[in-house]
Amino acid sequence: MNDDAWSFVYVTDMQPGSPKSYRFRPSYLDNWKTARKQIIEIKPDFMLVGGDITRDGTLHVWELEEMRADFESMGIPYYVVPGNMDAGNKFTDLEGPHANRRDTEICITSDSLERFESVFGPHAWSFTHKNLRVSGFCDMLLGSDLPEERHLKAWLEAQRSEQRENPQREHRIWILHYALFADAPDEPAWDIRKTEEYTGWYFTVDHAHRDWLMKLFIDAHAERVITGHIHCRKDYFVNNIHFDLAPSTAFSQWDDRWPDGDPTLGFFRFDVNGPDMKRSFVPLRTVSQRTDGYGPGGHPTPEMRDYSLAWEK
Ligand SMILES: [Fe+2]
Repeated sequence: MNDDAWSFVYVTDMQPGSPKSYRFRPSYLDNWKTARKQIIEIKPDFMLVGGDITRDGTLHVWELEEMRADFESMGIPYYVVPGNMDAGNKFTDLEGPHANRRDTEICITSDSLERFESVFGPHAWSFTHKNLRVSGFCDMLLGSDLPEERHLKAWLEAQRSEQRENPQREHRIWILHYALFADAPDEPAWDIRKTEEYTGWYFTVDHAHRDWLMKLFIDAHAERVITGHIHCRKDYFVNNIHFDLAPSTAFSQWDDRWPDGDPTLGFFRFDVNGPDMKRSFVPLRTVSQRTDGYGPGGHPTPEMRDYSLAWEK
């Protein structure tokens, strides 16, 4: 490696959970510990985190605080955007088709975002490291009509102006939690109310904001847009931008969505050498085989959360 070469990592959707909670899967925690060790061994300049760092950060601020302590102890600078498990789902005023999930009650709120920010700082940020510009933001705010959405949009417009007009001397990447699209940027709007379209709705930025964000990424000369939330690796190259749908370290989802989707657990490593930036996938060295644990998956309603099951009181 020459003096100009350096690396960073991107990891997302670790959601290790806690044995103090109404639900816990030890395998998720084991897998995060494995990824964490592998990341430390790489000695990256910094770590980008794509959200869903907790199982229930919207309910338990201590899950957020425990992850902050965990990151701090890694000895690596880190930058985090919130995921829906940390700060609430993207906004909807319609209910989905699932009886055990009330979609309108689990959306992002000012309170849930403020709780996240009290631990990890602002919901939108941008920094330059050597010849790389990284910008991250909380996409769940889009469509919420919260005061923080107006702040976010003003911030994004300022980023657009600045990054469009400045000559491109660096690599430019963006991170957000939800995928911008599932199959193609011009796919139709997903209807949350239809069972067969629900996951398309659940995993992607709403149609109303997709074109606007795409134009912003083009204007800002984005090179890559990296997203989490889906837990299945898939690559797109559209409008001269790489869209990296990232794997989880905890468990896979949507394995059957695409013939070339890869549910293998792991994280991304980026090696930068002047004008070259190479992405590689780092699979977990070992995947936990534990199958024990307790409590429901998904987004259980309050009456489904039984804290008497907790392994640690
Ligand atoms: Fe998520």
